[in-house]
Amino acid sequence: MENHFILRPWQLSDAVSLARYANDPDVSLNLRDRFPYPYALSDAESYIRDCIAKEETQLCRAIVIDGEAAGSVGVFPRSDIYRRTAELGDWLAKPFWGRGIMTAAVAEICREGFRRFDIVRIDAEINARNIASRRVVEKNGFTLEGVLRRNVYKRGEILDSCMYSLLREEVSL
Ligand SMILES: CC(C)(COP(=O)(O)OP(=O)(O)OC[C@H]1O[C@@H](n2cnc3c(N)ncnc32)[C@H](O)[C@@H]1OP(=O)(O)O)[C@@H](O)C(=O)NCCC(=O)NCCS
Repeated sequence: MENHFILRPWQLSDAVSLARYANDPDVSLNLRDRFPYPYALSDAESYIRDCIAKEETQLCRAIVIDGEAAGSVGVFPRSDIYRRTAELGDWLAKPFWGRGIMTAAVAEICREGFRRFDIVRIDAEINARNIASRRVVEKNGFTLEGVLRRNVYKRGEILDSCMYSLLREEVSL
């Protein structure tokens, strides 16, 4: 199946397609509550404005398929004693799942994140049941460091989460 995409900075004109694709309970099921459902046009606009404002300090990209913003992938550096680390975040619109798009997008954003920021580690905390997301990071060389037991409360359920990390020296830059 076709898996062509580009990564580019978010722009305000993406708000309509972002709101349409993000307004899906299956997309937000394994995301933090700050990714709302239902997802309104105003949520899309404030997300994009925030990404534009933080362009110098984080790397957040729209996943553009056939000219439409259909997902997001980013490397988000932390502060304080964690300032040499960053968190990976990603989601993709449901019609495009299972084509290898996020596996390729995560490879690209991690390389770019290590090039751009003085970080030594990118990590991802993924709900244990989110097998697709776990496969995406595993295929990109992330190591499972441990399971955080009963760490997450989402839509009425208590869930375990898995901590994965990728170190700078594990990536060809
Ligand atoms: C998780 C997500 C980003 C994956 O994106 P994607 O482009 O569909 O991922 P890919 O096609 O690159 O890879 C998915 C992998 O998971 C596998 N997979 C998917 N569903 C699976 C399931 N239920 N059981 C086992 N494997 C599964 C696929 O077979 C593939 O692995 P493979 O190449 O070894 O066969 C996408 O499903 C999504 O956006 N989900 C909602 C938001 C989310 O959960 N984000 C991550 C938060 S940590």
